Amino acid sequence: MAVQRTFSILKPDVTRRNLTGAVNAKIEEAGLRIVAQKRVHMTRGQAETFYAVHKARPFFGELVEQMSAGPVVVQVLEGEDAIARYRGVMGATNPEKADPGTIRKLFALNMGENSVHGSDAPETAAIEIAQWFSGNEIVG
Ligand code: RTP
Ligand code: MG
Repeated sequence: MAVQRTFSILKPDVTRRNLTGAVNAKIEEAGLRIVAQKRVHMTRGQAETFYAVHKARPFFGELVEQMSAGPVVVQVLEGEDAIARYRGVMGATNPEKADPGTIRKLFALNMGENSVHGSDAPETAAIEIAQWFSGNEIVG
């Protein structure tokens, strides 16, 4: 499998509890390199655009509320098979079902405040990275 890039968000529950470094340590231990990173406070509109695929879902309003409730850290991660690798270290969406040692098992509070986002496919990774970073902000 080739070197890939994926898009990551450390969600507001992470920044609120000062866990940015702890989550980044897990990312790096998993063999992923943080090649771009910045802290931003998403507007409601930006959160709605980012999660537009979930617009019709019953949890959409709560999701937008939570994602814009405080600062997040947006990142580009690089490594072998980065998309699947990061999904693996993130753990299941519901932290109660996440495997031991995963970021969501270790840090997530509940299904909504589940600490991290990671792209689910190469196409979405490319779109999400372009939404938040210009080319010269990514230094591999
Ligand atoms: P993400 O997109 O944030 O990486 O998470 P995911 O792929 O594991 O899960 P996804 O199905 O894409 O859902 C996106 C986010 O919506 C929230 N959610 N809440 N209350 C609920 O039933 C529910 N389901 C999903 C979670 O914050 C999830 O990460
Ligand atoms: Mg998703």
